[in-house]
Amino acid sequence: MARNGRYAHIVGWGMYVPAHRRTNDEIAAMVDTSDEWIATRTGIKERRIAAEHESTATMALRAGEAALEIASLAPEALDLIIVASATPDYLFPASACIVQDKLGADHAGAFDLSAACSGFVYGLSLAAQAIETGAIDTALVIGSETLSRFVDWKDRKTCILFGDGAGAVVLAGRNQRGGVLSSTLRSDGSGGELLLVPAGGSRHPASLETLANNQHTIKMLGREVFRFATRAMADAARVVVEKAGLTFDEVALVIPHQANSRIIETATRMLRLPEEKVYMNVERYGNTSSASIPIALCEAVEEGRVQPGDNLVLVGFGAGLTWAAAAVQWAVPWPVVPQPPQQRVLWRARRVFARLRSGWRRVGRRIWGALRWLQGKRGQPSAEE
Ligand code: UT7
Repeated sequence: MARNGRYAHIVGWGMYVPAHRRTNDEIAAMVDTSDEWIATRTGIKERRIAAEHESTATMALRAGEAALEIASLAPEALDLIIVASATPDYLFPASACIVQDKLGADHAGAFDLSAACSGFVYGLSLAAQAIETGAIDTALVIGSETLSRFVDWKDRKTCILFGDGAGAVVLAGRNQRGGVLSSTLRSDGSGGELLLVPAGGSRHPASLETLANNQHTIKMLGREVFRFATRAMADAARVVVEKAGLTFDEVALVIPHQANSRIIETATRMLRLPEEKVYMNVERYGNTSSASIPIALCEAVEEGRVQPGDNLVLVGFGAGLTWAAAAVQWAVPWPVVPQPPQQRVLWRARRVFARLRSGWRRVGRRIWGALRWLQGKRGQPSAEE
């Protein structure tokens, strides 16, 4: 896919998941289900639930910081930050801007990307293309979700599936072949109603009525999504392998969106792949939407299942409907050379400084606003004049 001889390599990766685990048994105490049903129909054993002080942006920040540290890249060197999320902190500003501010990434553009569970691969593909054209040189691509805040904890068809977390990669331009070799992005909006949160946007803004009708939580026609998912994953994976000039024999590992072990197993059979070539960690985190692929990528790397020179296929599907895949050639050896202690201290100091500076800027803006207001007051003619 490279143009100008530039390739977008993954040079850093990181993940963050909340500490609190919610097991199937705990969910079985809330709705009419069982550990056995959930485990056999989905493969999920537990998922993480964000604490009150955590949100999509705070988790994205933690994953992003970890990825930058592995890449040994200072936040000021970033050109672009993309946060893929279906559950951003606000409609606006973008969660990516919150991350940019807290990182102190002063030279980076930042935006959120809404493509549900395919969002991370969409972001990876767009950032890679921007690097290949020479428009930018580095990018931080994050998938982060706080789905637990949009789950209807009384609906057993959906509440068993979702979890919270974030995963990130740093992309950097290099002249040697590798990195993101090919990608495909697809959509079919006619399937929009299969998986949606009906209210809270401009079509049905929040109101007492939308609240009373429970329209701010995830609604899903699971069986239809299941059927679409298996076909979409297999098709997209085939497309990117072919586009990259590879065969599946040359692919070391497929890292699919972790929605349901049965979906992954069906797609694996459709692609005639041996099980060990397909990564799965859905049992530990459930479906974390846009975060699931980068979280799985981080764990695969740290388990030693990804080696320099390996070809990977990342493939996702989700609401929209959307689906996407990317073929990636890995370049970085694991374990990475540990950073000297002084370097770690420097990273920590950098983080503290970025947070402080963000605080100063906020306070400064308020003081400036107050001064302007006072100035305006003084300059205004009084009522008697
Ligand atoms: O990132 C993309 C997001 N979404 C997905 O990937 C979801 C894709 N779909 C799925 O993963 C599966 O369709 C589900 C796990 C959601 C459901 O599994 P299924 O095998 O398709 O079950 P089903 O919806 O066909 O339901 C079978 C039965 C129904 O009972 P009846 O009508 O046959 O009597 C459901 O009411 O299972 C019942 N059921 C449950 N029973 C116990 C549905 N959910 C539960 C539950 N516990 N949690």
